[in-house]
Amino acid sequence: MNTNSLVSISDIGRDEILRLLDTARQFEENPNRRLLEGRVVATLFFEPSTRTRLSFETAVNRLGGRVIGFSDANTTSSSKGETLKDTIKMVSNYVDLIIMRHYLEGAARYASEVTDVPIINAGDGANQHPSQTMLDLYSIYKTQGTLENLTITLVGDLKYGRTVHSLIMAMRYFNPTFRFVACSELGMPKEYKVFCDENGIKYTEHTDFSPEVINSSDIIYMTRVQRERFADIMEYERVKDLYNLNSAMLTDARPNMRILHPLPRVNEIAQDVDDNPHAYYFEQARNGLYARQALICRALGIEV
Ligand code: CP
Repeated sequence: MNTNSLVSISDIGRDEILRLLDTARQFEENPNRRLLEGRVVATLFFEPSTRTRLSFETAVNRLGGRVIGFSDANTTSSSKGETLKDTIKMVSNYVDLIIMRHYLEGAARYASEVTDVPIINAGDGANQHPSQTMLDLYSIYKTQGTLENLTITLVGDLKYGRTVHSLIMAMRYFNPTFRFVACSELGMPKEYKVFCDENGIKYTEHTDFSPEVINSSDIIYMTRVQRERFADIMEYERVKDLYNLNSAMLTDARPNMRILHPLPRVNEIAQDVDDNPHAYYFEQARNGLYARQALICRALGIEV
């Protein structure tokens, strides 16, 4: 196992988070630096992705490295029955870093245990999405000027939403107050509420996405109800449209409040929010490039 792997957001502590945010800021000022000259990075995506894969690949390209990999595992020998272990061991023969998304929770941890090449978890099932968390933290820091003492409202699919799980864990260092807005079927899993209790993180739970909640938030973090995580499609149909944000709901929001969403969205944020000054989700996705450049350098032990 390579100690530079990033499998869970808990692999990095407060000081390192702050250092990575500063590195991301440097990359935002100048994203084109040939720090990866001669390095090859693999992007292995066993699940669909637009932003994560393309921003990681852009990050490598802008740093002068090269990328190999796949975006559809059906075109690889895993469709012939090759195990994840064998796939990782094979790819490790060719590259300096593996960035992997997988539909199974724990897959990134497992991969990191069968190779000495660093692994970055680009999302494993409903578990963790640590690189998304770094860009979320960077977006929060840029828009609020601090990570400390913020009220953050998480809305939608809190059960399967790996981005909100990672975000809670990372924010433990910064004295947040969380609001969890979800229906009972998609509420925050008990393990994350226990995590909050054990780390002194304040939270309240709501089924109503009320004006009181909206108007007292610094960050509203919307999430998609993920059809692909439901075994029963009827249950998905029952809950998919419960929480929708539109521009009229933002009239009395705090001036500093920003709306984040890991994207893709379906209909949880109306199109009329896109031009509202509180909307920040497209900029948030752009921040992914800089945050991921910082994470790639960390994984490869490259000083910036
Ligand atoms: N936020 C995110 O993970 O987006 P993609 O699924 O498009 O990579």
